[in-house]
Amino acid sequence: MCGIVGYIGKGVAQEVLLDGLRRLEYRGYDSAGVAFHEGHQFFMARETGRVGNLAQSIQRKCSSASLGIAHTRWATHGPVTVSNTHPHVSYDGKFIIVHNGVIENFFSLKRFLSQKKIEFTSETDSEVLCNLIAYNYSILQSDGDGFIESVRMALSKCSGAYGIAVICLDYPNTLIGARRGSPLVVGLGEDANFIASDASAFVGRAKDAVFLKDGELAILTGTDFRITTSEGQEAQAVTQPVDQISEEVDLGDFDSFMEKEIFEQPLALRNTLRGRFGDDGTTAKLGGLEGHQDELRNLDRIIFIACGTARHACMVGEYLIERLARVPVEVEHASEFRYRNSPNVGNSLVIAVSQSGETLDTLEAVREAKTKGLLTLGITNVVGSTLARETDGGVYQRVGPEIGVASTKAFSSQACLCAMLGLALGRMRDLSPVDGRSIVDALNGLPNLVSEVLQQGEQIRELAMKYANAEHLLFLGRQSLYPVALEGALKLKEISYAHAEGYPAAELKHGPIALINTECPSVFMVEGTELSAKTIANMQEVKARKGPVIAIVPQSVEIPEGSADDVFRLPDAHEVVRPILANLPLQLFAYHFARLRGLDVDKPRNLAKSVTVE
Ligand code: G6P
Repeated sequence: MCGIVGYIGKGVAQEVLLDGLRRLEYRGYDSAGVAFHEGHQFFMARETGRVGNLAQSIQRKCSSASLGIAHTRWATHGPVTVSNTHPHVSYDGKFIIVHNGVIENFFSLKRFLSQKKIEFTSETDSEVLCNLIAYNYSILQSDGDGFIESVRMALSKCSGAYGIAVICLDYPNTLIGARRGSPLVVGLGEDANFIASDASAFVGRAKDAVFLKDGELAILTGTDFRITTSEGQEAQAVTQPVDQISEEVDLGDFDSFMEKEIFEQPLALRNTLRGRFGDDGTTAKLGGLEGHQDELRNLDRIIFIACGTARHACMVGEYLIERLARVPVEVEHASEFRYRNSPNVGNSLVIAVSQSGETLDTLEAVREAKTKGLLTLGITNVVGSTLARETDGGVYQRVGPEIGVASTKAFSSQACLCAMLGLALGRMRDLSPVDGRSIVDALNGLPNLVSEVLQQGEQIRELAMKYANAEHLLFLGRQSLYPVALEGALKLKEISYAHAEGYPAAELKHGPIALINTECPSVFMVEGTELSAKTIANMQEVKARKGPVIAIVPQSVEIPEGSADDVFRLPDAHEVVRPILANLPLQLFAYHFARLRGLDVDKPRNLAKSVTVE
């Protein structure tokens, strides 16, 4: 979602800012803009569409400025137009702002400013904040700190979430950043400082980074910086080396990040698993949970909170953990959990799962859980992310940066970590060493099985070609393959814009079967358990109504003649890894299906990689 980059230093701001915006493209956006402080004036350029459009329009005007801010916008208030694109200039022309998040009371602030005869040129909440800063500046006795004070005063009047970068015409050597709710990180380089919503924007340029805490302001010059609290007291800055928090991303020989990330899953899973089993080979050893052994042993229930694909991985975890550890598990949409009156019974553990570690609803749900005194753990991929910093403990996924908006390798690793957690909790309870060992073996064997399935990718491409004209598809599975059905449908919707729904296979008869006709393919995942026969019966119900059936089936399960049009075989595997394997053909199916429609799978319309608004 929206990205911020700011630069102040001795170099050419234009180069740094455009490069930073390109690195933030993966977050998802629909317009981009940049502003520079040059001489005694501002220079600004804004374009709808890609950063490439913006780069072209700046090229024509060219800037040698060494102070500037830039933004990729994902529309919240007001449609995708140039006038709504950031940066926004204040009514008096003195301030320029870029903003992530939502100022929830923007309407009352706008009314207040309108009464002062201040006019607006956009429909955004961000312009309201910019004008409020300018208005404060006009009424303050302008001494040396007028810029900082005006920003601080304005932010104290705002409710909602913000990450901002601001520059002021009267302060050619100052860049201010501030955050509440939306992430913001300061980058410290040689003769240059940076501000960005994500450290990847300044990798290779900044040496150290400082993550701002909620309510903090960062005041940067080209050679110095300081952090203050929202009340203006000096705050401590904890620096971290940038190379430890962010990795370079490179497409290699692949056409898209989604394809690359699908095919790097064997390696990603090896990294997720590495060094995480006990010496006796019967349990999982997750370092980030070591300090919480007593709480884990005495758990009464686990509540998973997550959004999107991460929530589907948690649902896989629900089935596996309940089976292995006999601990009751609930999976909640983070956005629902945070506003619910969920009864706080027994010893509950909240596990928040988020690839980015920055999804606002997930973070707010964690904060709500902490308010209620619950132990919170995080599963995230991004080292140093807000989730990693705000939970009581947790586990890193270690799958490397995931750039494709449609999450693939992150899902596999999250589901794998849930299985490992189930194993660890199971071994603290009833699970025998023999069963523990067979699960450890299954998990260790997972990367090779994933490679085996991915090698059959061509068969999936052919299936995608066969069904490329379908506009409605159903995905069906039972037990731990039900969340896989949800994930398969989500993946297809996200990148191909076809309508797809996921259901438990037996629910077919309670509604979705009405959609079945010759144009609506159904993708069934067959378990390879005693339930297989029931799922095959559901397939036959679809065939009886002339619906095309694609079956994804373990090698040893026999599919009766006439119950499926196409069969994709998976290796026989332990139940803890089956959902991960069954999901692979669905990832590939969505990928090929979308590519055959000529769509950009890495930048699907309207979607953002990291959703930092409610
Ligand atoms: C967005 C992305 C999804 C992702 C979800 C949760 O909707 O497009 O791919 O699953 O956010 O993201 P998180 O970073 O919290 O896992």
